[in-house]
Amino acid sequence: MRSQIGTIAMTMLCAALGCSEPGDRSDPAADPPSKAERRAQVAATVEAARAGTTGAPLAGISAAAFNEALAAFNTDESITDGLGPLFNATSCGHCHTLGGIGGAGVQINRHFGAYVNGIFDPLASEGGDARSLFSLGTFNRGSTLCQVPVEVEPADATVKNVGRLVPPLFGLGLVDAMPDAFFDALAAGEPAAIRGIVKRQPILLPNPADPSQTLFAPRVVRFGWKGALTNLAEFSAAAYNGEMGITNPALRRRQTRT
Ligand code: HEC
Repeated sequence: MRSQIGTIAMTMLCAALGCSEPGDRSDPAADPPSKAERRAQVAATVEAARAGTTGAPLAGISAAAFNEALAAFNTDESITDGLGPLFNATSCGHCHTLGGIGGAGVQINRHFGAYVNGIFDPLASEGGDARSLFSLGTFNRGSTLCQVPVEVEPADATVKNVGRLVPPLFGLGLVDAMPDAFFDALAAGEPAAIRGIVKRQPILLPNPADPSQTLFAPRVVRFGWKGALTNLAEFSAAAYNGEMGITNPALRRRQTRT
């Protein structure tokens, strides 16, 4: 229980900041917000981001190309675009909102898995390690009635309900544009005792605007959890796939790890 002095201090702080009384939703000790309240918070954040400023294109990127990409990032996908049947959100802009479209987010992605003999098993055959938060529910595919239940953690998961926050994407175009030699030099500058590896793998989706990228040529991986993807085109393909269930020529099957 909070001491009386603590309560007074909290009340004074609240008065100074113009926030509400202790005991309501602004008090971390109070009940967490309900699902409906969380949804309303997310909807308000998305609306504010869409109405706000979005920064400006970097030198070399035309306003038209920037606006086209921004519109695609903000487009709400539907079942006819390939959304689902399981998904986390209907647009990229739904999650990356704070500070403008492309920013960090208020959503939390959910993951599960298991430790087997001290090694992490993503339980891929059971849909792991990402757990999609939404389902299309009941819908018609032609004359077939489909019913897709919401994903739940499998019984053998021992790593449960882990949350991953949405990071901001500002400046990642610059990371993508750096030559491999830049990352080699960064690693070489680190003390040998703590130096990691610079991982390379074949490019699966070359960026047509970058003549140094060709299909299957090795490139330093610079995006994704544990360094899984060589450029932003590949990450976007993985995000359409993993966050919205939308497959594409590079990722023809649904995957639940990025
Ligand atoms: C449901 C929320 C959600 C949606 C929708 C979403 N993202 Fe993200 N995004 C995340 C989270 C969480 C991460 C951090 C996890 C990770 O790196 O895999 C992330 C990370 C990223 C990164 C950073 C990768 C890195 O290594 O630094 C990029 C780029 C990105 N998203 C692009 C997109 C694009 C493009 C879309 C739409 C196709 C999209 N995101 C849709 C939640 C989301």
